[in-house]
Amino acid sequence: MDSIVVRGNGPLSGQIPIAGAKNACLALMPATLLSDEPLTLTNAPRLSDIRTMTELLASLGAEVTALQDGKVLATSCHGEINPVADYDIVRKMRASNLVLGPLLARLGHAVVSLPGGCAIGARPMDIHVDALSALGAEIELKDGYLHAEAKGGLKGAVHEMRFASVGATENFLMAASLAKGTSVLKNAAREPEIVDLAKCLRAMGAQIEGDGTSEIVIEGVDRLHGATHPVVADRIELGTYMLAPAICGGEVECLGGRIDLIESFCEKLDAAGVSVEQTHTGVKVSRKNGRIHAVDVVTEPFPGFPTDLQAQMMALLCTAEGTSVLEEKIFENRFMHAPELMRMGANIEVHGGHATVHGVEKLKGAPVMATDLRASVSLILAGLAAEGETVVSRVYHLDRGYERVEEKLKGVGAHIERVKAS
Ligand code: EPZ
Repeated sequence: MDSIVVRGNGPLSGQIPIAGAKNACLALMPATLLSDEPLTLTNAPRLSDIRTMTELLASLGAEVTALQDGKVLATSCHGEINPVADYDIVRKMRASNLVLGPLLARLGHAVVSLPGGCAIGARPMDIHVDALSALGAEIELKDGYLHAEAKGGLKGAVHEMRFASVGATENFLMAASLAKGTSVLKNAAREPEIVDLAKCLRAMGAQIEGDGTSEIVIEGVDRLHGATHPVVADRIELGTYMLAPAICGGEVECLGGRIDLIESFCEKLDAAGVSVEQTHTGVKVSRKNGRIHAVDVVTEPFPGFPTDLQAQMMALLCTAEGTSVLEEKIFENRFMHAPELMRMGANIEVHGGHATVHGVEKLKGAPVMATDLRASVSLILAGLAAEGETVVSRVYHLDRGYERVEEKLKGVGAHIERVKAS
């Protein structure tokens, strides 16, 4: 397995291009199942998760062709469709469950494997099942697979979710787009990736209003047509790279970034003493002098502080002046980076969903292990400011959500190398 070696190298400077959003693209690609006409996605990220979704869609009978060095995905689903999403692919990536809604809407039936356990939490699918059942689907679990059927097709309905789940909102949106009649989703997730999916579905002929708010109205249509859609910028990749100059000092511009996608995060950076500015071409971040101030963070659904930036923010707060408390309210097991940061000399106490970070002067490089996608990049960020060498192993986690991380950080002056598995 590859590992990444990082050496603290002082302030950073330059520009980092921000790619299209992984979590938007993983919802946009299954939308191709809703129509027999081509759907083209531009500004697509080049990541192993995108390749896994490509593999899954191909197993269902769709075609996905990566063009222009992978930045454009030409997708279509005009042939015979296989309604079974196999465990062997689904277990690699939870987002595979985003084919359930579109398959149900297109075929009236679907058989989708449950993804199984995940490092950061149990992550059941009950909210997805309740939402699609509200549209008239009968869903039962058999041999680890959800067997879903909508005799006579899906029917519009009013449904309130018990929690604003991102994935369940995306499955409901895609399913209701082809249901008979009007659907109203209450307590819907409001993430920018939901807005991007709704934009794409509208470009395909869907009638959707209210995306970005907690109440979405969908007027079902008989069929959807082809479209071309640019994937929104990746706000989590953006936040991650904004933390690099915040941790090391210096000034970096994240090209293509938009502050409005992560305002709550930018407010915390500002409170910590980091300057953040929207420019014509991106987001400029700088930290001139003095130590970072401690801040408290609570993760919440959008527009609250994103859970996908919690680990990276913890890396920053390890060397802050004072004590910070981070509360993780979305996933029940998302502090596995803490013991690894403590191997680098951080002073952290974890109690259930709370982590108390007592800022130390300096971190020291050490061999550490990545446990999940966001934890892996938090260790790289910590290594950028640590004394000596940090070796992060199991970086396959990282490649799921960050394209060319070494090149991007090297481009602003970081000392970082990938060591290929021998
Ligand atoms: C999406 O996951 C993202 N993944 C996650 O990013 C992100 O952390 C999460 O939203 C929250 O923002 C993708 O978009 C592919 P949820 P999703 O349904 O849709 C519970 C990353 O690092 N829940 O909003 O799976 C669930 O267990 C990844 O890029 C149920 O209990 O998130 C969790 O505690 C990690 N039952 C909470 O809700 C359900 O049926 C939020 O889950 C569904 C969810």
